[in-house]
Parts: sequence; structure tokens; C-alpha cells
Amino acid sequence: MSDTRGRFEKEMNEKVETYQASIFFDRRLFVYDIYGSIAHAKMLGKQGIITEQEAELIVNGLQMVREEIEKGEFEFKKELEDIHLNIENRLFEKIGDLAGKLHTARSRNDQVALDMRLYVKGAIVIAIDMLIEMERAVVGLAEDNVDVVIPGYTHLQRAQPILLAHHLLAYYEMLERDVSRFQDMMKHVDVMPLGSGALAGVPYPIDREFVAKELGFSSISRNSIDAVSDRDFLVEYSSAAAVAMMHLSRFAEEIILWSSQEFGFIEIDDAYATGSSIMPQKKNPDVAELARGKTGRVYGNLIGLLTTLKSLPLAYNKDLQEDKEGFFDTVDTLLSTVEVFAGMVSTLTVNADRTRSAADSPYILATDVADYLVGRGVPFREAHQIVGNLVKYAVDKNKSLNELSIEEYQNFSSLFEKDICDISVEKSINGRNVPGGTAPEQVEAALKLARERLNGREKRG
Ligand code: ARG
Repeated sequence: MSDTRGRFEKEMNEKVETYQASIFFDRRLFVYDIYGSIAHAKMLGKQGIITEQEAELIVNGLQMVREEIEKGEFEFKKELEDIHLNIENRLFEKIGDLAGKLHTARSRNDQVALDMRLYVKGAIVIAIDMLIEMERAVVGLAEDNVDVVIPGYTHLQRAQPILLAHHLLAYYEMLERDVSRFQDMMKHVDVMPLGSGALAGVPYPIDREFVAKELGFSSISRNSIDAVSDRDFLVEYSSAAAVAMMHLSRFAEEIILWSSQEFGFIEIDDAYATGSSIMPQKKNPDVAELARGKTGRVYGNLIGLLTTLKSLPLAYNKDLQEDKEGFFDTVDTLLSTVEVFAGMVSTLTVNADRTRSAADSPYILATDVADYLVGRGVPFREAHQIVGNLVKYAVDKNKSLNELSIEEYQNFSSLFEKDICDISVEKSINGRNVPGGTAPEQVEAALKLARERLNGREKRG
């Protein structure tokens, strides 16, 4: 039996039993717990700490327990507190007292640190894969709409005309940073803590490098106290997840606005929209709204975790068990959100006429008029002033900038010539031909680069 109550005279209070148990949520670590135990048992055998034959029996028993859990036949018991004791206890039932040798040279403190690290390593790989899928959706939408013009906004006011593809590629850049954040954190996660024991290391001739190699870790922890109390890797994942969700939430906000009748720039595919229970005409952007809403809980989980960790004395404290629920929720929320969001983006359609006429907004070329004067030697600040007056005049006359006559232009500056009437949305866009700008030449190059990077990413099934 995996009993931890040898020194006690009384049974645990039943409410306390439930209160302190983590089996309700740490059962998702079972496969990592078993992998870790198998590697540990093999190492104990190889080092002669237990016999090779004992190690083999323990490994076989652990495989049986794993199969049982995978088949849904395992009975999780809250009186056994957590996943570690549940599995160990079942091992006793399978192979008898020999099971008691598995926990030699180990503590649940280094065990749970190991399990979480194995779990996070997997969660990083999946997050990266999904973010790349999201990139594919964004780049695909940009490629399919490469000629589409939209108004670019600042302060949510029409500012300058741009290509929709350029706007979408801004999200691609955010996603690229997200991917690299998840990649970068791997070096902090990919460290094997087993062998730290409860906090001080263990008095057995263990081979930590062997365990690390068995489990696919590239290094072992250098300090046993840090190894059992470090949860930085969870903070790093949670914070990268919070940033990624923030990006999706900004995109979500635009999708919500753009699919409104007021904008009418895009239509969300029926498969990604919901109806109203009362208003039959409604088509609601629930996916985008939920992505925006769920960002809050991912932030909350990050702050919760940081708050749990602050002021914790070294080394292990039970507070650390509180790392799990919020963290698992963050992983689930991030992955499900990115997946559904990518589907929504790759199926939405763009109303190019609507976006084009919005870009034909009466004063959207004001900067281009100022740039025209700058081209004729006027300092930019002065040109800004002149065009400001011109815009005021046009607004008063209820005319757009294109509708003003050359004489009207010349009333504001004698430098205006007939070709001022040639300014257009297309010219404005084409003119911004600097690296990183919205000119088609630049955007096509950026799209090509993005596509090449995506093709270069290995696809994991
Ligand atoms: N369920 C515990 C956790 O999640 C496992 C470690 C327990 N260690 C201990 N000393 N009580 O943190």
C-alpha cells in the first residue's frame, strides 16, 4: 500500500481528504507519471539499487496500469490523494510488495516536477503546430485577397488606404513571434529534475543522465532545491499563451467589427457563426467573441500562478499543487481557441467592393496631398497645415478631396498643379514602396517569404 500516514494515530478528516486531493485534475498526468516511473525503475535496476529482474517486473506492472487507465478501467481514488499515489497503489495490487521498491531514491516532489515538465514539453509542441496552422489560415486568406484594398485605421478612424493582405500579414508577424516564444521556452522546460528527491538529492548511486536520456531530456537540473520548487516554465508557457490570446483577441475584435452590417467587410462562414434564439435574422460571430472573452481567463490563470509562487519559501510547499488547474485550463483554452479560430479565418469571405468603397473615403488621401507639397519643397509640417485648411474647406463645402477643382487647390498653395487631381487610392498604396510598407510589390514579397517559411515548417500529422 502507498500509505503516507505511518506516523499518525488518526485517519484524515474526510473534508480535508477531499480538500487536499489533486486526483480530480492531475490524472491527466498519468502517462507522464508512468513514463517517468519506468525510466526511474530501469535506472534503479541498471545501477544495482534494485535487481534487474525486479526492475523488469515493476516496468511490466506499470505498463499494465497504463493500459488499464487508457481503457478507462482504472478506478481513481481520492483517498489516494494524487495521480502518483493512485498509480503506485495500483502497482501494489498488480505486483505485490515489490511495488514498494519503485519509490526508492525518489520523492513525489521531484516526481511531480518531472511529470509537469514532460506534460509541458508536449503542450509546447502542440501549441507551435496549432499556431502554424493559424499562420497558414492567415497567409491563405491574404493570398486569396491579394488585390483587396481596405481603409487602414488609427483611432478606429479611416487613416490611409492599405492592402488587406498587408493588414493580415501584421497578424502573421504576431503569430511568428508567438511561435518563437514557445520555441524559446523549451530550453527552460527541457531539464530533467528526477534525482533531486524531496529537496536535497538522494543517497543512492543513481544515474540521472540515463533517466534524462530515456525520457528525451537534453539536460539535468543543477540544483535539487531549485528543481523541486521551480515552476518558471509554467509561468513562461502561461505568459506566452496570454500574449498569443491577446493577439487572437485583437483579431477577434476586428472580425466582429468587420462582419457587422456597419462595416460589411467580411462574412463569417455559416459553419463558424451562431444564430439568435429570438431574432431570426441574426448571424453572430460567437467564435470571435469567445476568443476575445477567453483571453481574460488565460490572463487570470497567469496572474493566479504568479501570485501562488510569490513568497513561497524553498523548497516544495503544497501551494505548488495549485499550479495545475489554472495551467491545464490555459493549455486547453489556448489550443481549442487557436484551432477553431484558424478554421474561422480560413473560411471567411471578403466583400472587396465594400472595403474598396470604404477606402474611397473623402479625406483618406489627405496625407498624400501633404506628401505632394513636400515633393515640391514644402516642409512637411507646413504642408500638414495647408492640407488641414484644405480639408476644413472641403468639409464645409461638403466635397471630397477629389471633387475640388485645381483653382480651389491653388487657393491654398500655388504649388498645386493639375496633376494633384491624379492622386488616387491606388497611387497612394503603390507609393508606399518601402520595406515593410503596403505597396503591392512589398506585400507580394512578404507573402512569398511567409509562404516559403510555412512550406519549410515540417508538418506533424
Ligand atoms: N499532488 C502534489 C502536487 O501536485 C504532488 C506532490 C506532493 N508532494 C508532497 N510533498 N505532498 O504538487
